[in-house]
Amino acid sequence: MPTSEERAYAYENARAAQGERLRTLETLFDAGTIAELEARGVGRGWRCLEVGGGGGSIALWLADRVAPDGAVLATDLDTTVLEGLSHPNLEVRVHDVLEHDLPEGEFDLVHARLVLAWLPDRRTALRRLIAALKPGGWLVAEDLDFASAVPDPHMGAAMCARFTRIVEAHHAVIAERHGFDPFYGRRLAGDLDDAGLVDTDFRGRASMWRAGEPGGEIWRLSLEQLRDGIVDRELMDAGEVDAAIAFCTDPRFSSLSPVMMTAWGRRPA
Ligand SMILES: C[S@@+](CC[C@H](N)C(=O)[O-])C[C@H]1O[C@@H](n2cnc3c(N)ncnc32)[C@H](O)[C@@H]1O
Repeated sequence: MPTSEERAYAYENARAAQGERLRTLETLFDAGTIAELEARGVGRGWRCLEVGGGGGSIALWLADRVAPDGAVLATDLDTTVLEGLSHPNLEVRVHDVLEHDLPEGEFDLVHARLVLAWLPDRRTALRRLIAALKPGGWLVAEDLDFASAVPDPHMGAAMCARFTRIVEAHHAVIAERHGFDPFYGRRLAGDLDDAGLVDTDFRGRASMWRAGEPGGEIWRLSLEQLRDGIVDRELMDAGEVDAAIAFCTDPRFSSLSPVMMTAWGRRPA
């Protein structure tokens, strides 16, 4: 039985790892997100809702963008990192998008990145996000599709096979543990159409993820988090998983990233 000090230490470690993971996601995806938000016209005076704000970089960017007379509400199940942000135009609120309603008809923009694919009931969540929009307001939703997460053949057959195996194990554990859909990106645009939004469109982005860069780091951090789950389910043995984790920092490591799919649409006027 771990002592309370050991439990506190393990908890702090898990928190630090989660913070590092959120920062790495921001490094990977913020430039693309910001380009899409700018293309929707977000600017001074807008009221924005950032759902599942995580590390808060996009909430802060929006708060600057809409200042001085706009405002941003950033929500998350866990607001530990968001609470540490300080901006006169930013409000932070603990909120579960599956359980609790949001202010209705209030926002010019609702943005959710890497949130919907993790939710067991996406339809309910989408309905809430859309109800929060003013008529004519924009929903911008972003999620990954791992269809393109394949190894770079330059790594050689053995390393490619190891990468393919660990990616399958990664999908199996997060799907079982969280109901995560690793291929949700391809459904996003259709879900916005089905939900009744108008002026819908989408764009996907992908790049190479390599060791020593944020792409290699996000694989390492994600696999470290899932290590015990993969071993407990006997998908791979501990030695194989540790080798795969180490492999993300091997200078030869190179893979095609998942597609980050951004989809958008307006609430009908
Ligand atoms: C993968 S992180 C993405 C964080 C941030 N949106 C980004 O892209 O950098 C997913 C975030 O969604 C939050 N989240 C998960 N389920 C949620 C729910 N039911 N309601 C609100 N937030 C949720 C998590 O706490 C986490 O901060």
